[in-house]
Amino acid sequence: MYRLLANPASPFVRKVRVVLHETGMTDSVEEVVVATTPTAPAGEVTAAHALKKIPALIRPEGCTLYDSRVITRYLDARAGGKLYPPSHIWETLTLEATGDGIMEAAVLMVYEGRCRPEDKQDHGWVDAQWGKVENALDALTGRWMSHLAGPLDAGVIAIGCALGYLDFRHPDRGWRKGRDALDDWFAVFAERESMKATRPS
Ligand code: BEZ
Repeated sequence: MYRLLANPASPFVRKVRVVLHETGMTDSVEEVVVATTPTAPAGEVTAAHALKKIPALIRPEGCTLYDSRVITRYLDARAGGKLYPPSHIWETLTLEATGDGIMEAAVLMVYEGRCRPEDKQDHGWVDAQWGKVENALDALTGRWMSHLAGPLDAGVIAIGCALGYLDFRHPDRGWRKGRDALDDWFAVFAERESMKATRPS
């Protein structure tokens, strides 16, 4: 049995959980919910992940795996390898990096508000993070819609989880404005059983 150090609010954890659902591997993993932040990392997280982050996948037979991209690729390999198709591997990995980058910027915005006192928060820096998100969303609408409409892969899952996190933590930023095609795509994607089962709370 694997143990996944997790928090349902984390979009990186959600990506792993969606992969578990899509590959039929949920019964192989025990999810251990941890309360952890960059300024107050949980002891179990510090022990498992060199950089004190979640997710981390603790394996009985080998080293603990991180980060989310390593875990998703490992789980998919165990399940037969459909989410990283060799014929489109570079597109899949680049799209996954785009989704992870959106998540990273969006999480940093949250941490700036949560972990620093109000008078020390840098609103220009927060806006710059949002600028990265917007640039990535424009790249998606400009170059990636046909890939998103194609077969499910790890890149597509990453984008779904990234957009879900924007709805969860940054609903007032209005990511959908002027991006109808991406909005339409996400409306359908969010109804997958794997996405419904992993909605952040
Ligand atoms: C959040 O509450 O948004 C969050 C929690 C854990 C990791 C990342 C984000």
